[in-house]
Amino acid sequence: MAGRLEGKRIVITGAAQGIGLAMAETFLAEGAHVFLVDRDGDLLAAEVERLRAAGGKVGHTTADITDAKAIERAVAAAASEIGQLNALVNNAGVNVFFEPLKLSDADWQRCFDINLKGAWNCSKAVLPGMIAAGGGVILNIASTHAFTIVPHSFPYPVAKHALLGMTKALGLEYAGQGVRVNALAPGYVRTQKVVDYWNSFPDPVAAEAETMKLHPGGRIATPQEIAKAALFMISDECPFMNATCLTVDGGMSVLHHP
Ligand SMILES: NC(=O)c1ccc[n+]([C@@H]2O[C@H](COP(=O)([O-])OP(=O)(O)OC[C@H]3O[C@@H](n4cnc5c(N)ncnc54)[C@H](O)[C@@H]3O)[C@@H](O)[C@H]2O)c1
Repeated sequence: MAGRLEGKRIVITGAAQGIGLAMAETFLAEGAHVFLVDRDGDLLAAEVERLRAAGGKVGHTTADITDAKAIERAVAAAASEIGQLNALVNNAGVNVFFEPLKLSDADWQRCFDINLKGAWNCSKAVLPGMIAAGGGVILNIASTHAFTIVPHSFPYPVAKHALLGMTKALGLEYAGQGVRVNALAPGYVRTQKVVDYWNSFPDPVAAEAETMKLHPGGRIATPQEIAKAALFMISDECPFMNATCLTVDGGMSVLHHP
């Protein structure tokens, strides 16, 4: 089944690498026109060149999602370059992991600015156009941290819990205007961020093995597996899915650890 996103125009934030880039590739393969946003302009430009060389319909701009004005400009540029937007994927996010009392105010602010306010900045920029056009989809990339807590990971899970709250609030608010707002909660996904996390331990190999043990299937997700779930959620295949969260973690969050 190909062409599942034929004619769809989709903005993805944090698309220069990891899950965001995998979504761009997956959506392009299904016929979408994508517009990619990332604060890492060099990395983004290199990936866009590669995607275009493979025939992809790809627009892009360098912007930081914490800068509301820059995001307004980015969304306006996207709409004028690729046309009225059908979907936004709020994917850009960063790990901010501390023991609570060791957290600085600056890191608290950075965590919420990127992981929560950034998603709101982007949503606020696309919603008027979607409402005027009679509908659209916003997909927030949350995490299993949106409903579970890992000690010493503060305040990332607090921001992801709030992102889930925003998903529900916006999903209810604009359902009558045809806008669906959902969240996707991955567990561990093999991206550079996760490799960096393992490398932050004295024994990275042991840290990786510990992560695998958390998963009933003994492995973590590939970015492509998350992208496939996102594809379903932004497609027209689930028109009644709204204000909810789909967990894609191989069963990790269900496993009881004695
Ligand atoms: N990797 C995982 O295991 C995992 C698990 C659960 C949830 N997530 C979530 O998935 C999303 C993507 O994670 P990933 O692992 O692919 O990350 P990643 O670090 O591989 O890529 C994130 C991208 O976002 C960009 N970015 C970060 N802050 C930005 C900002 N302020 N403005 C614009 N761009 C910005 C970065 O430059 C980078 O290219 C995040 O929201 C993350 O919280 C990841």
